[in-house]
Amino acid sequence: MKLSVKELHQNLLLWFRKNGRELPWRKPGIGAYERWLSEIMLQQTRVETALPYFEKFINRFPAIADLAEADVDEVQSMWAGLGYYSRARNLHKCAQTVLAQYRGIFPKRYAELIKLPGIGPYTASAIASMAFNERVPAIDGNLERVLARLIELKTVAKGNKTIASLAAEIVSLGNAGKINEALMDLSATICKVKSPDCLLCPISSQCKTRISGDFANIPRKAPKKQKVLLHSQGYAIFRKEKSGGLSVLVARRAKGAWLEGMWDLPWILVDAQEKPKQIPGKALGRSAEVNRTITNHKIHFSVEARVGNAQLSESSIRATLRGLGSDFRWLSWAEEAESLPRPSRKIIEKLISPA
Ligand code: ADE
Repeated sequence: MKLSVKELHQNLLLWFRKNGRELPWRKPGIGAYERWLSEIMLQQTRVETALPYFEKFINRFPAIADLAEADVDEVQSMWAGLGYYSRARNLHKCAQTVLAQYRGIFPKRYAELIKLPGIGPYTASAIASMAFNERVPAIDGNLERVLARLIELKTVAKGNKTIASLAAEIVSLGNAGKINEALMDLSATICKVKSPDCLLCPISSQCKTRISGDFANIPRKAPKKQKVLLHSQGYAIFRKEKSGGLSVLVARRAKGAWLEGMWDLPWILVDAQEKPKQIPGKALGRSAEVNRTITNHKIHFSVEARVGNAQLSESSIRATLRGLGSDFRWLSWAEEAESLPRPSRKIIEKLISPA
């Protein structure tokens, strides 16, 4: 049976019209700015996680100029919890570039979009197709899974040419943005990694894997890269404010360090056996641990709790904690917890909860 691309195209569009997910970046009248913002957030991030961040960013930065003119610090703080923090720096840089070079109006073509900070081939295709209907496929691992199953292609390395040309053929028939989103939704809700719901699938009549039933092996997964295990030691120095509120000392991550520019608990990488550094404050005799993942590293993050007092001066903090950050300040736990990276938030919650 020869694959009918025309039928695929038609079935995907029909299905998407009825079953596509209602998402804020898909509302009628949404422009390239919102499309771009959502696509950056959705890189490596699930839709449910990105949703509240999207709302928060659109409320605070309704237009690209608002974002471009904001302090990068604020953008990074608002990004806290989403991870992959270089995205926040690039987001800001990209907004500034579009404002300066394109008078705040996103370029329409893939070839121009791809030159902007933080925009790779997938994101450029997604924006070009969804905001401007350029006929380019947005290919990621999810779309590769759907199409690999369709044609029963066992081994799919990233960038597989057969998949790329099939995807290009489908979008060449028009409505590229909708087709890309239909394939995204299909992969998320029906053609899932485990137990796909073929009965509900709009393209199952043409799917070869549906006949063989070999979903577990198609596409065959590349072996997961082993993450490099590292250890880090951090410090949560608490201070009771006169108001009764609790503050915790945070350090700005140094230039060139992981999470560059972010405010986080002060921490450094250590050898597993290394003794904790002599640092200010009185030991509370409590510590907490979580694993945090940064790119392809798994970091065992151990944090010791200490209390600072009024005598703990700025200069002594600076002197003893030099090397753990480029700047230091007290962060109000009640008001600013959300601006901390998720692992640090979790650690503090553990440290301050009753034993
Ligand atoms: N993942 C990446 N882009 C997406 C989009 N536009 N809708 C849903 N999930 C996505």
